Amino acid sequence: PPKYKVTIVGSGNWGSVASKLIASNTLKLSSFHDEVKMWVFEETLPSGEKLTDVINQTNENVKYLPGIKLGRNVVADPDLENAVRDANMLVFVTPHQFMEGICKKLIGKIRSDAQAISLIKGMEVKKEGPCMISTLISQQLGVNCCVLMGANIANEIAVEKFSEATVGFRGNREIAENWVQLFSTPYFMVSACQDVEGVELCGTLKNIVAIAAGFVDGLDMGNNTKAAIMRIGLREMKAFSKLLFSSVKDSTFFESCGVADLITTCLGGRNRKCAEAFAKNGGKRSFDELEAEMLQGQKLQGVSTAKEVYEVLKHKGWLEMFPLFTTVHEICTGRLPPTAIVEYSEHAPKFP
Ligand code: NAD
Ligand code: 13P
Repeated sequence: PPKYKVTIVGSGNWGSVASKLIASNTLKLSSFHDEVKMWVFEETLPSGEKLTDVINQTNENVKYLPGIKLGRNVVADPDLENAVRDANMLVFVTPHQFMEGICKKLIGKIRSDAQAISLIKGMEVKKEGPCMISTLISQQLGVNCCVLMGANIANEIAVEKFSEATVGFRGNREIAENWVQLFSTPYFMVSACQDVEGVELCGTLKNIVAIAAGFVDGLDMGNNTKAAIMRIGLREMKAFSKLLFSSVKDSTFFESCGVADLITTCLGGRNRKCAEAFAKNGGKRSFDELEAEMLQGQKLQGVSTAKEVYEVLKHKGWLEMFPLFTTVHEICTGRLPPTAIVEYSEHAPKFP
């Protein structure tokens, strides 16, 4: 039988780790071509060299995952069309705000038998309403799109510390099992869950809760307060997901993509870290500034997701039902001070 050819669209912190996981498996599994292509959004490094050239020469993404070998079968390519041309398994892993533009460029450029998976945590909001990234991909490109989410801080997986992940799928379990095989390693345990909307919403919404948890850390409010914020956040994650998609299952929140990702992100994620600094500065320095200074080119998803979810809540008349999500957005935009996170999160916020 013909072998699967894999291309990874994205090469940031998590995208690079995903390429390492996948490349170790394509070498071992006979149903996949050894070579894994990775599309790189090209940039010039301070040394004057192109990032793609350095990745191909050193086998390391020196900017987004320094010190980790990706596998010699990973080939970086700055040409998006060329990178996807031969692939029938496409892995999407970029910050969510870039996916709409990338999809537009890919229309008519991918193989008709291609399958896709999204590792992207986020959503788009259109006039018609919210659109999950996997839906954007499947609608724009006419492909089936699974998702992979979980408690997956990339730098920890890069050094092969054990973690779990959840593949969300609809319909065909065989396709999901193929993705599970492509990602699974002894230190990365993947299971499939037939609830694509639930899995993707868990991964997306926990980033808003992580911002709230960061505020609590910045204000030195302690562990009980942080646990309370995580509990309220989880409750809003579940309520919002079920209001958008009645098919979302309670059990999904107990998978890696649910409570486990919420916990790890609130303890050790980038959203948490930048929100802590934001609260420490009393909201005087913007998230854009803090992101640029603290993350060296990596991107936050929680601040924009809070805005996107706020737009949905406002449009649907649901703001009062989601005080934590609402308050996070109001703090990020400077309408409320960081201390409002506890004053308002259990109460419907009343704005002046
Ligand atoms: P990242 O945060 O490292 O972002 C940097 C990437 O964005 C680089 O590849 C850069 O080239 C690219 N980029 C910058 N400007 C661009 C543009 N205009 N167009 C296209 N690309 C551009 O990325 P990441 O960590 O790989 O995250 C990707 C997704 O994976 C996000 O949705 C994130 O929430 C999710 N995720 C991240 C982690 C993690 O620990 N890093 C873990 C799980 C999931
Ligand atoms: P941050 O983007 O906050 O680092 O979260 C990473 C993540 O999604 C872990 O699963």
